[in-house]
Amino acid sequence: MVGPMSDDPLLLTGRGRLLLPEPYDGPSPWAISFRDGIFAWVGSKADAPDADRVVDLGTALVTPGLVDAHTHPAFVGDRSDEAAARLAGAPYSGGGILRTVSTTRAASDDELRSTIEGRLLAALAAGTTTVECKSGYGLSTEQELRALRLIGEAAAALPIRVVRTFLGAHTVPAEAASMDAYAASVAEEMLPAVAAAGAAEFCDVFCDHGFFSLEATERVLHAAAGVGLGIRIHADQLARTGATELAVRLGATSVDHLEQLDDAGVAALAGSRTVATLLPGPALVMRDRLPPARALVDAGVTVALASDANAGTFGVWGAMPLVIGLGATLLGMTLAEAVRAATAGGAAALGLSGRRGAIAIGADADLVAWDAEHEGAFALHLGAVAPARTWIAGVEER
Ligand code: NIG
Ligand code: FE
Repeated sequence: MVGPMSDDPLLLTGRGRLLLPEPYDGPSPWAISFRDGIFAWVGSKADAPDADRVVDLGTALVTPGLVDAHTHPAFVGDRSDEAAARLAGAPYSGGGILRTVSTTRAASDDELRSTIEGRLLAALAAGTTTVECKSGYGLSTEQELRALRLIGEAAAALPIRVVRTFLGAHTVPAEAASMDAYAASVAEEMLPAVAAAGAAEFCDVFCDHGFFSLEATERVLHAAAGVGLGIRIHADQLARTGATELAVRLGATSVDHLEQLDDAGVAALAGSRTVATLLPGPALVMRDRLPPARALVDAGVTVALASDANAGTFGVWGAMPLVIGLGATLLGMTLAEAVRAATAGGAAALGLSGRRGAIAIGADADLVAWDAEHEGAFALHLGAVAPARTWIAGVEER
């Protein structure tokens, strides 16, 4: 993709809190420079290289651009009635996803593309500079390929960086003979088509009670690895199925949700390189159990925080500042841990460690100066913390 003209050479400087994401503790004022869209220098302003232009960020809190490693933007339709019914006692079932599948299939390319664009713009306006986007409301080869293509077209029109995930195994469509038959078609027909089109970087499966079994999940993800896609799993959300151990065994990049995870699951992740991506938004909306964030962090697991913005269980686009706040207030992380999970953790969950989610020499120059002075604002103002200025690839977003 050809990006806009770079603004560099440019030096950013400030006297406020700088999270790299670990707190910068060198001399103040600090300075950061970019070259060709990459961070070229970070340290004391007194030692900084010369630059044509200096931008003073004053006392603003500065962080890497946020990385939202789990979203489902490719749908149209409204299911707020379901949220109300669930809070009145109705269970969560695959029927809801199928309602969204029928409204999404009926939408034109233009409507679906512009809806996705609006969601990506909301994410960017709230400080997300890299976002993972799943398909999964098409559930046929043609419709899943269309969703991935439209995500790509929406992304190409915007500066936000997008990573695409094929989620053909989101639920079983009404026309399929059985879950196993549909999983076989995902593995043997849909995945080769997605790979041939170069339409996704990852494959995901909703492995849960009432959705895909461990065996079906393994079949799909084995095929995904075979066609060169990275793998990730919606796991242990509704029931403790053992999907987390499966993810570890398959070497998944990320295992997501984990509301029902127990000590054995935490231990399995602790001995692995799989990232635990926690999603406090849907847990809150569904009044679910909360994932064991504290135990995961204390066990040394790499934790990401992501929004899971989707059609049925959490409908907020641009939610990452709120998600950081919920990571601290609801999940028991410190603010520093929550910011790390929404930056470096999200990057790790997308296989982009060292390239995104960090203000470090050689990483992509994506950075947010917040309308706040301390990361405590994410908890104090819960979702009402906004970027003052944002740079992507060293180019200011205006
Ligand atoms: O991540 N858990 C599965 N999928 C989505 C919900 C999708 C929907 O209900 O439309 C999620 O929460
Ligand atoms: Fe999800």
